Amino acid sequence: MSPNEPVARSASDDKLFDEWWCEPGSGDQSMEDEHGDHWREFLRYIEEPDLTSSTVLDFGCNQGGMLRMLYDTKPFASAVGVDLARRSIDVAKSRKGDRPIRYEATSSLSHLCDVFDLALSSAVLFLVDDMNEHAKQIFSALKAEGVYYASHPDFLSYPNFEQIRKDINKFAAVPLVPHSLESIVTTFDAAGFRVGIKRVVPQTFVELNPGRNWFSSVADNIEASYLHSYVFQFSKPPLHSAD
Ligand SMILES: C[S@@+](CC[C@H](N)C(=O)[O-])C[C@H]1O[C@@H](n2cnc3c(N)ncnc32)[C@H](O)[C@@H]1O
Repeated sequence: MSPNEPVARSASDDKLFDEWWCEPGSGDQSMEDEHGDHWREFLRYIEEPDLTSSTVLDFGCNQGGMLRMLYDTKPFASAVGVDLARRSIDVAKSRKGDRPIRYEATSSLSHLCDVFDLALSSAVLFLVDDMNEHAKQIFSALKAEGVYYASHPDFLSYPNFEQIRKDINKFAAVPLVPHSLESIVTTFDAAGFRVGIKRVVPQTFVELNPGRNWFSSVADNIEASYLHSYVFQFSKPPLHSAD
């Protein structure tokens, strides 16, 4: 697969919208501005030492910054970034330079079967409405022995869950869906994946200034940042595996 191949879906996809974060005067650029440290930490969890012959999917890539960061630190053969946010995908396209990345505004992966060695999603699982369908789509998009890494803040366990849900849903084009860790594991297990997890310990200082984060107390911020952030590893078995 080449990043220059034509895309299978058209702009008539009725699940698409312009930007995910719809706060007036803000928008998806504000999220990209905040997520650099998070991506840097997340990408450290990829166990594959060399991606030079790998094809990579970023599910929910928004403006595409994470794939650009990955390519610039650990080059891959080619990549596709998909998102529902049309305008953010346009921004991603305008910023890709000559990196071998294709960005698509689409709600479906059905045209991408058996294509990827590696799939990634950063802070997207909690927006997935039908986790069963998502697990099946990623399973079929991956090649045998392909691996899906998903970073996941476990909002359900946050001490301020109800408040953070309200704050996110106020401006999010797709609302937060409270999947438990248990249900995510069960769903990916049923789809055929071997499921692993690591708890993420911040590598940079956690910003505690009041008004500059999602928390109304320092204790809540520390608990959420140190106890409830994870990276899942979902591994597709080899062909003809007995498992
Ligand atoms: C919280 S943002 C994270 C964006 C980016 N991954 C990052 O780390 O900065 C979640 C993104 O997932 C996208 N998204 C949500 N549901 C999706 C779906 N079913 N298919 C593709 N993208 C989706 C949203 O449009 C949004 O851009």
